[in-house]
Amino acid sequence: MPAGELYAVSTVRGPTKTETPSSRGKQKEYRLIRVKDTWCRVEIGQEIPCTLEEDQITVSQAKIGEKVSESGISWTIQAPIYFRYKVIESQSLLDPGNLTLLYGHVFDSQELEAYQNSKKTQKRFIVIDMTVDRLYGSKVRKYFEVNNVNYKIFALSTTEETKSMTLVLNILEEVHKFGLDRRTEPIIAIGGGVCLDIVGLAASLYRRRTPYIRVPTTLLSYVDASVGAKNGVNFCNCKNKLGSYTPPVATFLDRSFIQTIPRRQISNGLGEILKMALMKHKGLFDLLASHGKYLLDTKFQSRNGLASHGDAALKATRLAIETMLEELAPNLWEDDLDRLVDYGHVISPELEMKVLPALLHGEAVNVDMAFMTYVSYERGLLTLEEKDRTLLCMKGLELPVWQKDCTLQLISKALGDRLKHSGGQMRLPLPTGLGTAEIFNDVSEETIKRAYKMWVEECTA
Ligand SMILES: NC(=O)c1ccc[n+]([C@@H]2O[C@H](COP(=O)([O-])OP(=O)(O)OC[C@H]3O[C@@H](n4cnc5c(N)ncnc54)[C@H](O)[C@@H]3O)[C@@H](O)[C@H]2O)c1
Ligand SMILES: [Zn+2]
Repeated sequence: MPAGELYAVSTVRGPTKTETPSSRGKQKEYRLIRVKDTWCRVEIGQEIPCTLEEDQITVSQAKIGEKVSESGISWTIQAPIYFRYKVIESQSLLDPGNLTLLYGHVFDSQELEAYQNSKKTQKRFIVIDMTVDRLYGSKVRKYFEVNNVNYKIFALSTTEETKSMTLVLNILEEVHKFGLDRRTEPIIAIGGGVCLDIVGLAASLYRRRTPYIRVPTTLLSYVDASVGAKNGVNFCNCKNKLGSYTPPVATFLDRSFIQTIPRRQISNGLGEILKMALMKHKGLFDLLASHGKYLLDTKFQSRNGLASHGDAALKATRLAIETMLEELAPNLWEDDLDRLVDYGHVISPELEMKVLPALLHGEAVNVDMAFMTYVSYERGLLTLEEKDRTLLCMKGLELPVWQKDCTLQLISKALGDRLKHSGGQMRLPLPTGLGTAEIFNDVSEETIKRAYKMWVEECTA
């Protein structure tokens, strides 16, 4: 595997059988084989009735179950879905000599050669955040011009308030007018998490799934919004209510974009990095606790680029992405509801939408995590020292640890909703130390109330 390249591959389990033995009729299960151009069923356990050589036969991982009963036949289809996408660190992504942006998503070396030797002019549709366009647009245009690409740049004001289906449809209309080869010409999104989420949803809808590439330009989108499969837009005043699980073909990470974002936006991204540290990685927590100010001051820029392994910015972003991928890759479709990455995302969606635009996403996440730190302490999972160190680290990262609109009423409503949407169980991820965590279903209302009281007493003082 080339250095700096991370892979996430996931399959999705098919439905499980729910019938009781008494309800079973006559059942058979078939696998599917392709002989020349035709797929056919072969009952599992039976020989493949064919005179062809093995290498002329393709066996699918899909299965068809068949149940015959008096009322008719029912078929059960199990079809594993396979995703493969790349997350690649790259320097000078907009340097015309760096072909990552054009071909970095291609897996196969033969396919890459075919691309590069092809006489066909490459086409790319690029959606870019308006601010990013102002700062980097001329470089983006030059990149495609020098590389002789037929391109269209669609600049949009992508904010939490405009993160809606309207923008998705605007993008789709432009994509449709421009015309793309769905197999070989991925849509490129360049911007923060809002831009990447909107474009991801648009791409997942166009011709049912058009490949897309993410180029994150904020710290938050660099470590979080760009590494998983999710996309979405706000709907009916609810955060990310419409969306899909459609990973990009590739994400290209270039930290130099981060140098132009305001300091508050760096803190915002640090909120999501801290989430991973608190849940999974004591080393990352220590790094944030001791180098937080340095990271804020230097805006995550390294002196020696990707080679300086001792560099705090490189270490922090890599650890955040690696820990995130460990949790996401086996659960890309979030079938498993016990997710540590939900930490900070239980109360924050409600809070973020309520106070919009007062809190940034990572700030709302941190207010949620600060409250949950008290829940953990009250539940006996964190020591007093661990609680205090957590709060101190949050403050050092210049993140809010309290917000007046985060009332007990809002918290109770958010927890009630969680119960409703998580199969009747709370499934609260809570820290059990610095860098370790577990999921809990037994946090009482009493604990929540005590935690809230202490949180208000200590954090508003
Ligand atoms: N899909 C996911 O898994 C996932 C994960 C986490 C967050 N998100 C989503 O991401 C969004 C938040 O992302 P965000 O924090 O990047 O916000 P954002 O996209 O709103 O960007 C923040 C601001 O920074 C500006 N900006 C972007 N890049 C810049 C640059 N290089 N220089 C200067 N300014 C720049 C933008 O114009 C914007 O004003 C939320 O909507 C959240 O729901 C999604
Ligand atoms: Zn988040």
